Amino acid sequence: MVNISIDGRKIKAKEGSTIFDAARELNIPIPTLCFHPDLSAFGGCRLCTVEVKTNGSWQLATSCTTPVEQGMEVRVNSEAAKEARKAAAALLYYKHPETEAVREAARKAGIETPLREGESHDCILCGLCVRACNEIVGVDALTFNDRGRNREIDEPSIQFNPNTCIGCGSCAFACPTGYVKMEQDGDRRIIWEKVFKMTPCNVCGRYFAPEDQLRYISRTSGVPFSNLTTCTNCR
Ligand code: SF4
Ligand code: FES
Repeated sequence: MVNISIDGRKIKAKEGSTIFDAARELNIPIPTLCFHPDLSAFGGCRLCTVEVKTNGSWQLATSCTTPVEQGMEVRVNSEAAKEARKAAAALLYYKHPETEAVREAARKAGIETPLREGESHDCILCGLCVRACNEIVGVDALTFNDRGRNREIDEPSIQFNPNTCIGCGSCAFACPTGYVKMEQDGDRRIIWEKVFKMTPCNVCGRYFAPEDQLRYISRTSGVPFSNLTTCTNCR
């Protein structure tokens, strides 16, 4: 354990944990958008910025990616930290003014978000879909495109690989903006424009999972496919 202080409150934090984890222990709220507790941190949105005292001077740092250190001093609610979070929210809002998750983050940061016609579901490149696919499902169907010179600023840069996707929908559940659409229509599920054949439950007949997903689970777990065709309600 290491001793740190956040906004003047002392806490013993677990080694290897982050400032964000420690603040949560103290019930000090910090906004996030690209963070999920079950996924590795990415540090993309900067909405979780705080101040950390480093070599005697206060520096800005993203709390979701910064590990705690013995003797660390952190300020979450200083004017500089709040201004940095507001600037991060303002930048996102400038780029995606009609995306509700962004508007909400901006409002929480104290930015006025006048009502506009319509609503969009932009990709904000938070990477949650990519990490959910890679780290939870383990199929690597999503990757970031090259973020280099030739990329258009507003062009979503998530690359979808239809050959490895199993249609599980984890990316759609993880996406905070609604950019990843998953539609279900009877025995079909459509995601990233790929159509998946759904499997009916052998008890109630409800279509409950894509066949590709069940075959993937069967292959990786060794459980026969025929043992996987009962939905969770009927098990
Ligand atoms: S598609 Fe959604 S989850 Fe994936 S990077 Fe874009 S906003 Fe984030
Ligand atoms: S939540 Fe920490 S950088 Fe996005």
